Amino acid sequence: MRKILINGNKRLAGEVRISGSKNAALAILAATILLPGKTIIRNVPDLLDIKTIIRVLQRLGLRAEYSASQENTVEIWNRGVKHVAPYELVTKMRASFFVIGPILARQGLAKIPLPGGCAIGSRPVNLHIKGLEALGAKVRIEHGFVIAEAAGLKGDRVYLDFPSVGATESVMMAAALAAGETIIENAAGEPEIVDLANFLNLAGAKITGAGTEEIRIQGVKELSPVEYRVIPDRIEAGTFILAVAITKGEALIRDIVPEHIESVVRKLKETGLEIEMLAKDLRVSAKNGFKAVDLKTMPHPGFPTDMQPQFCSFLSLAQGTSVITETVFENRFMCVHELRRMGAEIKLEGQSAIITGVPELSSAPIKVSDLRAGAALVIAGLAAKGETLIEDRDHHIERGYEKLIYKLRSLGADIKEV
Ligand code: EPZ
Repeated sequence: MRKILINGNKRLAGEVRISGSKNAALAILAATILLPGKTIIRNVPDLLDIKTIIRVLQRLGLRAEYSASQENTVEIWNRGVKHVAPYELVTKMRASFFVIGPILARQGLAKIPLPGGCAIGSRPVNLHIKGLEALGAKVRIEHGFVIAEAAGLKGDRVYLDFPSVGATESVMMAAALAAGETIIENAAGEPEIVDLANFLNLAGAKITGAGTEEIRIQGVKELSPVEYRVIPDRIEAGTFILAVAITKGEALIRDIVPEHIESVVRKLKETGLEIEMLAKDLRVSAKNGFKAVDLKTMPHPGFPTDMQPQFCSFLSLAQGTSVITETVFENRFMCVHELRRMGAEIKLEGQSAIITGVPELSSAPIKVSDLRAGAALVIAGLAAKGETLIEDRDHHIERGYEKLIYKLRSLGADIKEV
């Protein structure tokens, strides 16, 4: 959808089901390169980014497609994989770079375009490369391609200078078929890492410690095909909670994993929201408004950077002044410039945004720079009086939110694609 029109200031109510996790699904689909035969992945959200990784797998020689008969199910037939990933697809979505580890492990050679930066930062891949080199790969960068070669990967210790999600996933996937033990130190612990490890272990890998800062992988000779269901998307869940809360509504958010959104829920309760956590659902009510809070994004289990832009919108209408500090990406306050155009009072100082709550936001034509900034601007538009026209020329929002307009309309939002 290139343009979204929201007639805001309508209280949201009802219930909404959360889709499968985009980021878990992307890593798990990349990991199917390691599994010969037919693999079935369920609860895969129908997103542009998922379509891109499916096209990458097809171009690598796998048969990969959304199942015709079952919604949100991807079937992959793997009878061997090429070692060159398509340039135009990897530069379109940097997550495609994750295929480097599995291809190297299967082929002993991988040639992957160096992913570009994006709106939120330069997005280097040096830690991915450092990890693969630690497993014995020779890696060079030529004409914008990363070329990795390894006669046979050998397990070793890998220290990640930053607990990078992608680098942890690349090393985990390569180490799954390496000879001997690999220990990843200062590993990322996000739920999507645990989901990838659970998927690989179901296929015969020997991975322990996923979710902690030290992950051990005993290499095995071969993995076998499996059927697997992806975890729910914790960032979509957090986004919907804020969409309901900013309109002072109340709703039931279905199909979530409570411990995956603990840090977000803790912060929301500090603002005074009523949050009731059930076994697999969460009830949120914001009838009495909400207060300012300070927050700082951190690697898991800290507050997730992917919820930071949405909180900038939400706290623009809180009572009091909030300070949001972004420590993961170098340029992730893009939505602030657009929020200011809607009347938000936000000052940027270094890596912090100082947000003075205002009584209301006013609608305005706004532009989307990246996925989560787009989600933040939809949230702001839902609260603003009048019609907000959101221009999303590069379809960022569709990359990460399945059926967003349909789900918001089912909660009573006056929102449509124009
Ligand atoms: C994953 O990106 C997610 N994407 C991001 O979600 C998420 O924001 C990020 O993890 C952090 O949680 C997917 O899983 C597809 P990182 P990734 O490597 O792996 C630096 C969304 O909106 N770094 O953990 O690319 C990097 O510059 C997206 O769904 C290096 O320096 O993130 C950044 O400052 C946005 N060298 C920090 O680490 C490297 O080799 C975190 O990046 C790799 C990363």
